[in-house]
Amino acid sequence: MRIFLIGMMGSGKTTLGRQLAGQLGYTFVDLDEYLVQRQGQSINQIFEQYGQEHFRKLERQALEEVVQKYDKAVISTGGGAPCFFNNIEYINQHGTSFYLDVPVEQLAHRLLAHGLQERPLLTGKSPAELNLYLTETLTHRKQFYERATYTLAGANTAAQSLLRLLN
Ligand code: S3P
Repeated sequence: MRIFLIGMMGSGKTTLGRQLAGQLGYTFVDLDEYLVQRQGQSINQIFEQYGQEHFRKLERQALEEVVQKYDKAVISTGGGAPCFFNNIEYINQHGTSFYLDVPVEQLAHRLLAHGLQERPLLTGKSPAELNLYLTETLTHRKQFYERATYTLAGANTAAQSLLRLLN
């Protein structure tokens, strides 16, 4: 069984994914991390050198490779991953997906505390700009996120809800 965690930047996919994989005895894969290893470049460098459009192609390739490599895994995807190339369909065909539905205020709070630098889409944004960006992005992405098999609302209880569902 593959478990995919999807949702916005700062929604806690990586933290929850790692925890969950540990509990289930599954492999944990962070799709961004996999891509960084595969390319030998940081996400920032990939965006800078090739642009977002190319990043999305690499991201799709990484998704397919991870699916081929692992069948007992918790996979946390980058925030945009489900929203390009029908990736959400591909994800749902190859596993069970969970959308971590976290309010924009909480996302912004966490991202401001740590996490703007290594995210090229957010670098250099003021708090007001970040709020606006997250609100607009979420408005567009919701249609993809909401196609997840399950939605977990509220960051803090996400781990518990998910573990309860799986047990
Ligand atoms: C992105 C999210 C990032 C990373 C890239 C683009 C996005 O992953 O893939 O910076 O488009 O939302 P996280 O959601 O793990 O931060």
